[in-house]
Amino acid sequence: MSYSKNEVLIKVENVSLQLDGKPILHNVNFDITNIKRPDMSQGQVVSLIGRSGIGKTQLFKILAGINKPTTGTVLLGADQVPVQAGMVGIVPQNYVLFNHRTIRGNWLIAMERSGMSEADKEKLMQDYAKHFDLADHLDKFPMQLSGGQRQRVSIIQQVLTGNKYILLDEPFSGLDAVMVDRVTALLLKVSLLDEQNTLIIVSHDIESAVAISDCVYLLGKPNAAQGATITQTYDLCSMGLAWQADIRKKPEFQRLLNDIREGI
Ligand SMILES: Nc1ncnc2c1ncn2[C@@H]1O[C@H](COP(=O)(O)OP(=O)(O)O)[C@@H](O)[C@H]1O
Ligand SMILES: [Mg+2]
Repeated sequence: MSYSKNEVLIKVENVSLQLDGKPILHNVNFDITNIKRPDMSQGQVVSLIGRSGIGKTQLFKILAGINKPTTGTVLLGADQVPVQAGMVGIVPQNYVLFNHRTIRGNWLIAMERSGMSEADKEKLMQDYAKHFDLADHLDKFPMQLSGGQRQRVSIIQQVLTGNKYILLDEPFSGLDAVMVDRVTALLLKVSLLDEQNTLIIVSHDIESAVAISDCVYLLGKPNAAQGATITQTYDLCSMGLAWQADIRKKPEFQRLLNDIREGI
């Protein structure tokens, strides 16, 4: 499949983190580059995989600009500006929507600064709701939806803000298999909406994350006295395993999963 990797969109440089004197992250380095495919608006989907407690959520907060690392930087965009809270869309684990607002109300907040007319906002919301099986739920409150529905509402909310970069912490956790498939389908669709769209998935669910990623980084702890670092990089584009709807059926994919399971 023909593609090229172009400019760096996100650069994570020498990120280390200590909490209460305890090393959590050690020298984390990786780049996310803009992928181009002929005649397609191909965004990027990158996964950071690691065991529970390894430091994924801490890294998530640093990538989001919510927490500062002890050392190192996260740079965004063509002009490589240091990340600050609000520059990246985030879907934290067990994300809580505004519970006193309906789904429509939640989505309208996301579009407050869009400059769109009310009619255009309504049309866009209807489109998303229709596409993602939420059409009957726009007037409901978050607590009236299932976990998978809430997760989709949260992801779409971030898309509606116009953020090109969206970070997700454990987006598949607590969902049954059908809902995982629907969330996965939504993420894939978001990645194709805009060539600059970049999804960063932080997860311990190896299969779901790897199946939709073009690049996978493993977070591990090769040295027990130090924090977690990137121990392995899998470029699924060059392995011929990116962008394939039936990837789960391929033996190469199953071999890769085994490899990853042994490596983390
Ligand atoms: N506020 C905190 N102060 C000190 N240590 C923390 C704090 N929050 C998390 N940790 C520790 O950081 C490590 C990584 O946690 P976390 O990033 O939540 O892991 P993961 O998301 O991979 O399951 C854990 O050992 C956890 O105990
Ligand atoms: Mg976590």
